[in-house]
Amino acid sequence: MKKISLVIGDQDIEYIEMLANYIRNTDYSSRFDLKLFSEVEHLQRYLSSEQKTNILLATEALLPNEPNEEQVDYVVTLADSNESNSDTSQIFKYQSLDDLLSTIISNYYERHGKKDKSKADETNTKIISIYSATGGTGKTTVAYNLANTISNEGHRVFYLNLELIQSTPIIFDTEGKDTIAPLLYYIKTGSDQLLEKIESFISIDDHTGVHYLNFPISAEEMQDISSEELELLISNLVDLGKYHYLIIDLESSLNHKVLAALDRSDRVLWLLNNDVQSFFKTNHLLEEMHAFLKDGSFRERVTLVLNRFTGRMNKQLTDYVLQVDARLPYVPDWKEVTSGDQLGSIPIFNKAITDLYRNFLITDQAEHDERGIVNGR
Ligand SMILES: Nc1ncnc2c1ncn2[C@@H]1O[C@H](COP(=O)(O)OP(=O)(O)OP(=O)(O)O)[C@@H](O)[C@H]1O
Ligand SMILES: [Mg+2]
Repeated sequence: MKKISLVIGDQDIEYIEMLANYIRNTDYSSRFDLKLFSEVEHLQRYLSSEQKTNILLATEALLPNEPNEEQVDYVVTLADSNESNSDTSQIFKYQSLDDLLSTIISNYYERHGKKDKSKADETNTKIISIYSATGGTGKTTVAYNLANTISNEGHRVFYLNLELIQSTPIIFDTEGKDTIAPLLYYIKTGSDQLLEKIESFISIDDHTGVHYLNFPISAEEMQDISSEELELLISNLVDLGKYHYLIIDLESSLNHKVLAALDRSDRVLWLLNNDVQSFFKTNHLLEEMHAFLKDGSFRERVTLVLNRFTGRMNKQLTDYVLQVDARLPYVPDWKEVTSGDQLGSIPIFNKAITDLYRNFLITDQAEHDERGIVNGR
């Protein structure tokens, strides 16, 4: 097996020598090709050479501002404090060396695997719809944060907004970007050219790297899109073969477009709020959904997510037979939201979204890939 080239940079010479000794005297010696640096200049010089580095592990003081992505596969900051377990771009320095090295190796293989995958021509697109029986439960907030989180994990994510009045300009910077009005023409005429045209209408959000379509903000035009046209659009986005996830932000009605999207979805994140209306309506609608979609196993594709959770649930709500699968915390800062940026910057909410992704979406993906099914159920 080819060795992983590991470059370690730290001004603390004792520490890097200890780490190097550990690697040399354990099985890790057969896995790593090691280079050590304690001075910024030397490290910079090495990194600007032709040498390829698989993993660059260095303290903040030694890390270059912008490591060359062509030369370095995976950059990890060696951190003095143990702040975040989920952030794979940093690792706590003072932990067991075995834990430190095994974490780095598994993160490297995970990322590296993903990198290769994103280069592949054919990517299976997993479709996730965000839905709720009542309005204003946080669908757009969750869809945006989920898209951002999955994109940060190195996947290609497409966000598709199907609200009657688009929230897209609130969450993404659409100013100066063309709308997809001309694309709607190709959709409406069922043109063979749709697949080849669609890419040129896709916008990319600079902030999150998430791809989306800038629909015109016209309720009339949104209303005018039929379920067949929506299915055609979804199929074309999937056929592009480049997105790992397609996240559909729905509205809380049961029109034909909503049904078409739910029907195509591999997973539905169904949001609830901590109130009786939400529980009552969800309870009834979920029962009827099988009939609407003619799918007896629809419930198996649904993850019930309680949003705005304050830490405890009212006794009357626990009486409902609904099995809540995940909870997202109430964010007091969102009492007043004045810009979309505010929605992506709450650590406790981001953490809950990451857990939601890891517990309910990522495992399905692995199975999905293993079985080689393209959007099948
Ligand atoms: N966990 C939360 N804590 C506090 N406020 C929240 C939370 N989630 C969402 N909100 C707030 O609730 C409001 C409605 O959220 P959002 O627009 O995401 O809901 P929605 O379900 O998409 O609504 P619609 O049905 O109109 O599409 C927003 O002001 C948002 O900031
Ligand atoms: Mg919404």
